[in-house]
Amino acid sequence: MSISLLPGHPHTAYRDGELCMASHALSALAQAHGTPLFVYSKAAMLDALAAYQRGFAGRNAQICYAMKANSSLGVLQVFAQAGCGFDIVSGGELERVLAAGGDPGKVIFSGVGKTRAEMRQALVAGIGCFNVESESELEVLSDAALAMGLRAPVSIRVNPNVDPKTHPYISTGLKGNKFGVAHERALATYQRAAALPGLQVVGIDCHIGSQITDSTPYLDAMDRVLDLVDAVEAAGIPIHHIDFGGGLGIDYNGDTPPAADALWAQLLAKLDARGYGQRRLMIEPGRSLVGNAGVCVTEVLYLKPGEQKNFCIIDAAMNELPRPAMYEAFHQIVPLSPRHGPGTVFDVVGPVCESGDWIGRDRALDVRPGDLLAVLSAGAYCMSMASNYNTRGRPAEVLVEGDKATLIRARETAADQMRHERLVG
Ligand code: LLP
Repeated sequence: MSISLLPGHPHTAYRDGELCMASHALSALAQAHGTPLFVYSKAAMLDALAAYQRGFAGRNAQICYAMKANSSLGVLQVFAQAGCGFDIVSGGELERVLAAGGDPGKVIFSGVGKTRAEMRQALVAGIGCFNVESESELEVLSDAALAMGLRAPVSIRVNPNVDPKTHPYISTGLKGNKFGVAHERALATYQRAAALPGLQVVGIDCHIGSQITDSTPYLDAMDRVLDLVDAVEAAGIPIHHIDFGGGLGIDYNGDTPPAADALWAQLLAKLDARGYGQRRLMIEPGRSLVGNAGVCVTEVLYLKPGEQKNFCIIDAAMNELPRPAMYEAFHQIVPLSPRHGPGTVFDVVGPVCESGDWIGRDRALDVRPGDLLAVLSAGAYCMSMASNYNTRGRPAEVLVEGDKATLIRARETAADQMRHERLVG
């Protein structure tokens, strides 16, 4: 048998010219479940998690999977069973954690716009920490907790003002971003939090952006955060945990992010040097745990030659692969059974009525209608951002583990989409 690995995509490889994940030919899964189809490798998720776990060996650390990256129940279950907590940003995400068997005590609640109802819901569930993003949110949270006879555990998300050198839409730690409390206001905000009767200060939090492929911004952010810990504790407010957010990038197109354990070796050296090595540490990785564990299998519907462009029209679209349309992001697109002819240069596009509905530009492919393609690195920020535009149903999802392939989400039907709608009288 000939095996050729796909660099950066563990557990996905060509076996005798057929793209497989674990022991499954992706074409067989497509045949069984239709396309577009997301297929995830449990082993790839656990490998990605293991890199962080190795990085934290011997430390007091909690990994909270940022479930916005992929919030399907079957995926959450993998991380819950592996002992992860969850970083949530809505009451809906909290319900998903509970439905997947996650431990609410290991949940941290991020986001700039938590509603009072979401705060109550999270307090009832007994979550571990609210990552508060503004002074006005502190007041509302204190109020909500007091009304329930509780004290809400809080961290303040500080904005370290470092440039993560990533796409502007996914950079979050700069002064011009809506996230977090400005570094200069952080001490005053902690003093306010410590004085509010419905709050219990437990930690500090930051998040500088996503798809970060360089360790420097992390090291800079850590210095800025530790400066604040020094200042806040000098003011008599103990900080029990330090949360460094998420953001480590993945290899989409030859990108070379540091490995999670290598990054943490550097960060821990800094923490040790500054005397914080034994503090409780938290992180909120999303993309790096699931991104390269998933592919989207799609069928070529039509080839449409043109004067300026040739189009390869596939049955997946910006509905389930929104990243190219939103961030001009690059995803590799590979055939499930390569033909090895010279190929033609195509724009690979979906059926949605938008010129922005493209998945890949200027890709050389030797394909015919009916062929199957895999869009790689589709485990993160694809299904969780999927929409029903054009009344397209969201795809099915399969999780593979060794010989087992489990349908973790059935394909959405038009009836599913219309369920809550009513005709007028
Ligand atoms: N924690 C917080 C507070 C966040 O805002 C985020 C992501 C994460 C953790 C997880 O970051 P990660 O480890 O996944 O980089 N839709 C965009 C990415 C948006 C990220 C938003 N925040 C994309 O498809 O590239």
